[in-house]
Amino acid sequence: FQPKLFKGRTVLVTAGPTFEAIDPVRGLTNRSSGKMGYAVARAAREAGARVVLVSGPTALPAPHGVQRVEVSSAQEMFDAVMTQVGAAQVFIATAAVADWRPAQVHAQKQKKREGEGAPTIALQANPDILAAVAALPQPPFCVGFAAESEKLAEHAAAKRVRKNVPLLVGNLGPDTFGRDDNRLELFDAAGHHPLGSGDKLVLARKLIEEIAARLERAGL
Ligand code: C5P
Repeated sequence: FQPKLFKGRTVLVTAGPTFEAIDPVRGLTNRSSGKMGYAVARAAREAGARVVLVSGPTALPAPHGVQRVEVSSAQEMFDAVMTQVGAAQVFIATAAVADWRPAQVHAQKQKKREGEGAPTIALQANPDILAAVAALPQPPFCVGFAAESEKLAEHAAAKRVRKNVPLLVGNLGPDTFGRDDNRLELFDAAGHHPLGSGDKLVLARKLIEEIAARLERAGL
């Protein structure tokens, strides 16, 4: 592993889940420990980059030397990313962003009332952070992640094109949530090939090497 591959570059990473409040005590969230994203941030730092990690709620400590911006909702994550992205040459979106949020956030805890049925929660779409960054006039090199419960190759390839990103990383583990290991597959314009399986930090370092090679090939 070459330690200074990313010297002089800024890498922006999103990680963890987002939390979408229903009221002061309840909310909707996605399953994500943040481990993969934190490993990516750590690996980018090891490679010499300045790293900004925009993180949803996780139990993880910030990797050494990484600037962490803590957010809760998808909208907060979007705002933090848009504030930071101008300085970044690479954007790696590992966060499990909630696709929807409650259309209305109640200021007080909603009470259960005798005889009343369960409430219906109207949802509205959250912004797609990765797609928005990729659509900027001068986007950084964008890397997305995809976790699918079925037909990964088909969905991941389509997702890469839809979000207009040069590189998409597919999570192949049947249930990688919270685990320290993972199996990853890379999808790009040429097709797809395995990145490997094993410890998330080892995979993150391999991914950083892949990204560095692509930046070099593109003359970036
Ligand atoms: O569409 P889907 O959620 O499967 O796409 C996953 C990829 O897009 C991940 O890289 C994720 O971080 C990013 N994403 C995002 N904002 C969203 C939804 C997904 O940045 N609202």
